[in-house]
Amino acid sequence: MTAGGRFSLSGRTAVVTGGGRGLGAGVTTALLTAGADVVVLARRDPPAELVEAARDLGRTLEFVPVDLVDADAVDAAADEVLARREVDVLVNNAGVQERHPAAEFPLDAWDRVLDVNLRVVLQLTQRFGRPMLARGAGAVINMASLLSFQGGLNVAAYAASKGGVAQLTKALANEWAGRGVRVNAVAPGYMATEMNEALLADPVRLEQLSARIPAGRWGTPEDVGDVVVFLASPAAGYVHGQVLAVDGGWMGR
Ligand SMILES: NC(=O)c1ccc[n+]([C@@H]2O[C@H](COP(=O)([O-])OP(=O)(O)OC[C@H]3O[C@@H](n4cnc5c(N)ncnc54)[C@H](OP(=O)(O)O)[C@@H]3O)[C@@H](O)[C@H]2O)c1
Repeated sequence: MTAGGRFSLSGRTAVVTGGGRGLGAGVTTALLTAGADVVVLARRDPPAELVEAARDLGRTLEFVPVDLVDADAVDAAADEVLARREVDVLVNNAGVQERHPAAEFPLDAWDRVLDVNLRVVLQLTQRFGRPMLARGAGAVINMASLLSFQGGLNVAAYAASKGGVAQLTKALANEWAGRGVRVNAVAPGYMATEMNEALLADPVRLEQLSARIPAGRWGTPEDVGDVVVFLASPAAGYVHGQVLAVDGGWMGR
């Protein structure tokens, strides 16, 4: 098989949570470009440029609206997708951030963050993973974070959830690696998306963070999307349970 063949996702179907915006849009674009059809689970419709990109590539882009905070709605969305598609790749991308000092962290904010960032990862991996296990083939890629390894400031719930995502990735891989389903995670570094509006608007924090990135720039949705394609593809066939930092060198510093 050629190198292109080993990295191709032609004929595959991928589900991407939050796949219409931010890093998720980069993931969706990269999967479509690699030949996959993509189903986006999110609250808002994917933007017109993503729909056009799919059409130009001759791929299918479907949208299933769901609020991931609602566990019953998550099950219903999974049922809807599975009723019409065999899913080969699941990307648990959607995530939320809430910033409060730990001493005052509101418990309802804690619940929202843990629900979307961690509970949904298990729930959707169960729902889409069971048919993968039955077929003995599939790939799950979770969105971890540098805060899977570090504690951050004023982001206790997010750090706890992303630490959980890294551990859940390894726990699932231990159980599923011998059954043909690969589970891995990507840990993006600092990326200029809506999630980081507060950091981008704070010139002091922005300068502190930017100066520490060896690559000398913040990351992009494309940086993350290409690595997700690799982890989803046959080229990563012997990669299990990894949390791969895509961080411009931040973790090595
Ligand atoms: N940006 C970074 O620097 C960075 C770094 C490390 C890790 N990450 C992780 O990468 C992932 C993507 O982050 P991002 O920066 O692209 O964030 P973003 O721009 O804020 O996008 C978040 C995505 O999640 C979806 N989402 C959020 N809450 C949802 C809900 N209740 N129901 C359904 N969908 C929901 C949103 O879609 P809708 O609004 O349409 O629902 C959106 O597509 C997250 O897991 C994040 O933790 C980001």
